[in-house]
Amino acid sequence: MTKYRRADPEISRRKFINVALGTAGAVGGLGLVTALAGVRPPNRITFSKLPAVGGDTLVHAEGDQSGQPIKVADLSDKITRAWPQGKDKNGNVVIKKDEPNNLLIVYKFAPDQLVAPTNLQATQQGVVAYSGICQHLGCQVGDNASKPETILCPCHSGAYDPRAGCKVIGGPPPKPLPQLPIKLDGEGVTATGPLEAPYFGLTESDWKALLEEAKTL
Ligand code: FES
Repeated sequence: MTKYRRADPEISRRKFINVALGTAGAVGGLGLVTALAGVRPPNRITFSKLPAVGGDTLVHAEGDQSGQPIKVADLSDKITRAWPQGKDKNGNVVIKKDEPNNLLIVYKFAPDQLVAPTNLQATQQGVVAYSGICQHLGCQVGDNASKPETILCPCHSGAYDPRAGCKVIGGPPPKPLPQLPIKLDGEGVTATGPLEAPYFGLTESDWKALLEEAKTL
């Protein structure tokens, strides 16, 4: 299993802020805010900050349907942004949007367009989901208008291939966007487990600790 080098969050944060200030003109405002908020250790955990786990429903993260469950009919070969929504121990339905790194992107492709290294077992009928946060320095990724079959990160032009496991195809990201295993649940989309690798900013050991904590809240 791949071991990720533990990063000092404060050093990473300072380094990124320096980089971000130098490139602010090229960065979308929301993406930068997301990145700055995301570079920190996962402390003061509440249920609304826990990562997606099996059984969570994916809900729209933006637009007129924000907070509503995503339907398969809403999806396309363009990014649909989503939050995971789960139930806490008291049965309260909670959208896990207080942790920016929980942002997800969801697609529906023709099933035969999905290729390795996509985990096809974690997709259904061409629906596939990934982390929506760049693995370089934590900006939100988006559609690429000039190359529609790819994902583009606006911060430093990182590029990913959403039909091929979101592998890196350009720029500085060091690793793919982690895939979220999903299944179709009637018209909706449900996670069948957590992201298959840590989201941006967490080492593998911190990620495992966070998932353990998720079982207790
Ligand atoms: S944050 Fe640098 S390429 Fe995405």
